[in-house]
This record gives sequence, C-alpha cells and structure tokens, in this order.
Amino acid sequence: MKPNKFVNLIAGLATAFALPLILLIIIPFVRQSDSVPIHYPEGQEVEGGVAAYPDATLYRFGSSDFGAQVYAAEGCAYCHTQVIRPTYAGPDMWRPGWGGREEEGLARETQPLDYTLEEIAPLGYQRIGQDLSNVGHRITTRELMHQHLLNPKEIDPDSGMPAYKHLYQMSPFGKGWEPTAKAEALVDYLLSLKKDQPLPEVAGTKG
Ligand code: HEC
Repeated sequence: MKPNKFVNLIAGLATAFALPLILLIIIPFVRQSDSVPIHYPEGQEVEGGVAAYPDATLYRFGSSDFGAQVYAAEGCAYCHTQVIRPTYAGPDMWRPGWGGREEEGLARETQPLDYTLEEIAPLGYQRIGQDLSNVGHRITTRELMHQHLLNPKEIDPDSGMPAYKHLYQMSPFGKGWEPTAKAEALVDYLLSLKKDQPLPEVAGTKG
C-alpha cells in the first residue's frame, strides 16, 4: 500500500468512528448532562401530573436507590431495557403496557428527563425480556414481583429468565424462601419503575 493510501485509510477509519461518536454520544451527553427536575408552571399543571417531574417522593421510595444498584450488579440490563423508543424507531408504543397507563391515555415514549434522578440509568441494549420502564404498572404487588425473581418458571414454564435464588434464603423452618434485604430493595425499585408521568410543555413534549 502506498503511503498516501494508507493515510487515507486511517483518515477514513477515524472519520467513520469519530462521526457517530460525536453525533450519538458526545453531543447528546453535553446537551443532557445539566438536566434538572422541572416544576410544573402555575396554571399549566397537566392532568395526572405531579408538582415537579421526576417527583423524588413518588419515583424513589424506601430502599429503591439501593435496589437500582442491585439491578445493575445482577446484570438485569443484559436482558431488559428501560427506554420506550420513539415510534419512528420501533413499535414500542404498540406493545401492550410498555408505554404506561394506556387506559388513562397517559402512555408515552421515554424522555431524557425521565432519568434525571437516576444515578445509574440502566438503558440496556438488548431485549431478551420485556422493557421494564413501566413494569411498576404491570406487576403491582410485592408477592408477584418476588415470585418473578425467585422462580420465573412458576409463572411461565417457558420463561427464559434465570431464577435469582441467591437473593433469597431458606426460611428458618425450611418452609419456602424469604427475601434478603437485596431482594426487598430490588422489588422496591421495580415497583417504582413508572416512566409515564405527564410532562409539562416546557419539557418540549405534550403529556
Ligand atoms: C437472561 C436474560 C434475563 C436476565 C439476565 C433477566 N431477565 Fe427478567 N426476563 C427475561 C425474560 C425472557 C422475561 C420474559 C419471560 C417472563 O416473564 O418470565 C423476563 C421477565 C421479567 C419481568 C416481568 C416483566 C413483565 O412485564 O411481566 C421482570 C419484572 C423481570 N424480568 C425482572 C428482571 C430483573 C429484576 C432481573 C435482574 C435481577 C432480570 N429480570 C434479569 C430475561 C431475563
């Protein structure tokens, strides 16, 4: 290879990697990195909304912050995403329950603001299981959520989800399993996953 061709190749490769890096990672990162929760302006409250979004008291309760760490450590994000894609990029909004409360007309795509209070935003990159952005609306009791973690095959014999038995311990008399603190925190976190609160218009979207 002649030297100038080699230089061209390197320059071409550099551009091919640099462009997507700048457009898809660096620019969005810089634009979103100073996001703060926003208050609903007086007189502009949206039906079904809260005083500020994301609402720290509603969105994060109990030990769910620790639960988010358990979620990250257990690798849930290898199989589950937490982003409802815009319809031009996929059929997420047509999948029942994914976008949130459909019957109340509140289902929506995920917005960058939804992640404002999250220390770790586990977007995920592949969907072996469902998207969990709004799983707190689909599975609403602690019992069902624990059952799903302890023994997914009991709910659906064909389930491809691994059993997270190490988050549970045998109860003292050998009758069944008891959740550890990690399992309780994880369930707090999962029940809190509701990324469908209506946004005020200042966020650039309608509710
Ligand atoms: C190897 C891939 C895989 C991993 C890792 C995984 N899951 Fe799953 N998960 C699935 C699949 C497949 C389903 C759908 C079948 C089912 O409902 O059991 C599912 C379903 C679920 C559901 C029910 C969703 C619904 O809408 O009904 C919840 C909740 C869930 N997973 C939570 C978790 C959590 C929390 C973790 C980490 C501790 C985790 N998953 C790790 C594959 C996985």
